[in-house]
This record gives sequence, C-alpha cells and structure tokens, in this order.
Amino acid sequence: MHSLGILLSGRGSNFVAIADSIDAGRIRDARIAVVISNKADAPGITIARQRGLNAVVIPSKGQAREEHDCEVVGALKNNAVDLVCLAGYMRLLSPWFVRQFPRRILNIHPSLLPAFPGLEAQEQAFAYGVKISGCTVHFVDEELDHGPIILQKMVQVLDSDDEHTLAARILEQEHIAYTEAINIVLDGGFQVDGRRLKKTWK
Ligand code: GAR
Repeated sequence: MHSLGILLSGRGSNFVAIADSIDAGRIRDARIAVVISNKADAPGITIARQRGLNAVVIPSKGQAREEHDCEVVGALKNNAVDLVCLAGYMRLLSPWFVRQFPRRILNIHPSLLPAFPGLEAQEQAFAYGVKISGCTVHFVDEELDHGPIILQKMVQVLDSDDEHTLAARILEQEHIAYTEAINIVLDGGFQVDGRRLKKTWK
C-alpha cells in the first residue's frame, strides 16, 4: 500500500480529485497518509478534515524556508509517505527537501511547460495569445516548475474564452492528468533518461 502526502496552499481541487480517484479505485493500492497546508485558512485543509483525513497546518509565514521545509519533511516521514504530491502548493522546495524524496515528488502546473512557469500561468498564456495551452504533471527538482515531465494534457483556446473559462477547462484536465500521472509513477513502468520519461511497459 502506497502512502501519499499531499501539500497544498489553497482551494484544494486537485487534492479532492486525487482523493476521489483513490475512493473510486482509479488509483489502486494507495491511501492519503497526510494532507499538509502552509496556510491555516486554505479551503483544501478544511475539506481534508471534513473527509476525516489526517490534516496538518504548518504555517510558513515568518519562517525561514529551511526551517519550514524541515518541519514538513518531518511530518511526511512520520507518516511514512512514499509519494509527495504538490497540489497548488505555492512554495518552492529547498534542494534539501527535494533530496529527501528522490523522484518521489510530483507537481501539477496549469500550462504546457516550459511555457508560462510561475504564478497565474493560465492568465499568462491567455494574454500571450496562444491557441493551445494545457497542464503538465512533472517530477519536482530544485527549480520552479521544471523537473522531468510525466504527462501533459492539451486544451484548445477558443475565441470565446476569457482567462477564467480557459482556466476552468485546464482545471478539468488537471484533475484527469494528476490521477494518470500518479498511476504511472506508482506502477513504476518507466525510466527517466535525462529529462525524458519513457514507458518501459508495452
Ligand atoms: C492549480 O491550477 C495548479 O495547477 C496550480 O495551482 C492551482 C491549484 O488549484 N499550481 C501552480 O500554479 C504551481 N506552479 P487547486 O488548489 O484547486 O488544486
């Protein structure tokens, strides 16, 4: 049984999608061992509590990154987490944090990386005038929105879109993509060659 640790800072819809996938058997042989928020008022942490999950707030405000990361890693290890899923966790992890879980930290980002890393990726893409955007699930490395890509989903930008309708359609794809990516990583049927993830199953 795999133990997932979810890190979030806000709404938590990707966390809910992952939890629903586990409950529905779309992600097998896994449980959410802990949900950690760096913000006490994150709606996602309230939902985690309502669902009876182990929900922990470790405030980041006013704390040095290394100190905060140390507490978060401690909570993940105390709960025997073997896969960390960043789900709208709006903090860069320190290199030390990344080294604690080699190739076991995933992030989802609402653009086709390497386009539009950072904040408000959907708005950035819309303002740039792209015709295609989407989302990316990738392994986390020491740079922002950067590690090897596990999978991407494409979303067409329509003439009728504004940044909100585009973001909503990207979010639908995020929820599907995260479950698929977790299954790829948990099944282990892949190898990472430089930046390229290649399937090793037929
Ligand atoms: C999602 O769109 C996620 O891709 C994005 O934050 C949102 C969180 O929503 N993450 C990033 O931009 C990471 N750079 P959620 O709290 O409803 O899952």
